[in-house]
Amino acid sequence: MRAARYEQFGTAREVLNVDECAVPTPGPGEVLVQLAFSGINPTDVKARSGRVPRVIDEFQIPHHDGSGIIKSVGEGVDSGRVGERVWVMLAASGNRYGTAAQYCVVINDFAQPLPDSVTLELGATLGVPAVTAAYCLFADAPIAGETVLVSGGAGAVGRAAVQLAKWGGARVCTTVSSDEKMRIATEAGANTVVNYTEGGAVDQLKDQGISRIVEVNLTANLELDLAISQPGMKILSYAADGEDPVFPRRALMNSCITIEFMILFNVQKEKFWAAVESVNRALRDGGLSMPPVSYVSLDEIAAAHENVEAGSTERSLLRI
Ligand SMILES: NC(=O)c1ccc[n+]([C@@H]2O[C@H](COP(=O)([O-])OP(=O)(O)OC[C@H]3O[C@@H](n4cnc5c(N)ncnc54)[C@H](OP(=O)(O)O)[C@@H]3O)[C@@H](O)[C@H]2O)c1
Repeated sequence: MRAARYEQFGTAREVLNVDECAVPTPGPGEVLVQLAFSGINPTDVKARSGRVPRVIDEFQIPHHDGSGIIKSVGEGVDSGRVGERVWVMLAASGNRYGTAAQYCVVINDFAQPLPDSVTLELGATLGVPAVTAAYCLFADAPIAGETVLVSGGAGAVGRAAVQLAKWGGARVCTTVSSDEKMRIATEAGANTVVNYTEGGAVDQLKDQGISRIVEVNLTANLELDLAISQPGMKILSYAADGEDPVFPRRALMNSCITIEFMILFNVQKEKFWAAVESVNRALRDGGLSMPPVSYVSLDEIAAAHENVEAGSTERSLLRI
């Protein structure tokens, strides 16, 4: 099969090579997926760069997210799954066969059935962003009737959070930094979209009764989050780019809020699978739509990684 691989960490152009590779065989409890699309996330790019220290098992085919068709199954997996259209998650987690290839092997449950109404393109955008968003929104309490703030509502996780929060019955406020991102967040369904670079964000958000914040940049936004907080509010912090925050203990104490930190790879298993199930239910209900994407071929993978590193508003999807 054709696959993109790296054998050492480095820049995309230095270490990513597209060449022939043996098709993997599904082991017990695994499925072989013929991929249609491979989705790229910041975590894939950080893994390839070496920013997240890890051991490479001889080689690594990158990317957790993808979509395709189950071609064969390993021992213990229902053979009726062969031919099923699936969305794939966490393919490169502890596994050298990520989705930037014609085939990948993943554990059975990491290949989730796609409803007939959902395209393979949308399926490849779900994994990391949608499951993270679902976890941050639904892991501890229902949000129906609540008002949620999603910081960065035009980002991959942020846009998924806007859509899932709406699907979950919440009112959604979100922050963005440009007119283009305002359009993306508005089209995703946000009720209130605030440009946080223009000043006045506190005034626009403080009387909205926000009970939960899905936070992409706690360091930059802690002051804003505290200024609009009410006792009992919860902040879910899922990203760690840039400087660590300095915590103002007195202000935090007075606010009586909770800050929870999460990373998808380490959350409690039952909460992880509950988040996956929320994504599946939202898909069946038509609650998730296609984000802005740019399509590239497998051979253009290095440029696609650079696109992610440049902070593009378009998700990069490899058309396999
Ligand atoms: N913990 C986990 O399991 C997990 C899962 C998924 C992703 N992540 C991490 O989360 C981060 C975002 O991932 P992504 O895929 O959503 O990236 P993305 O598509 O690039 O989106 C990030 C968004 O955050 C916005 N942003 C940055 N600073 C902001 C601020 N101060 N206020 C409001 N918005 C701000 C950016 O827009 P502007 O800069 O223009 O505002 C951008 O739209 C990455 O660091 C990723 O590694 C972690």
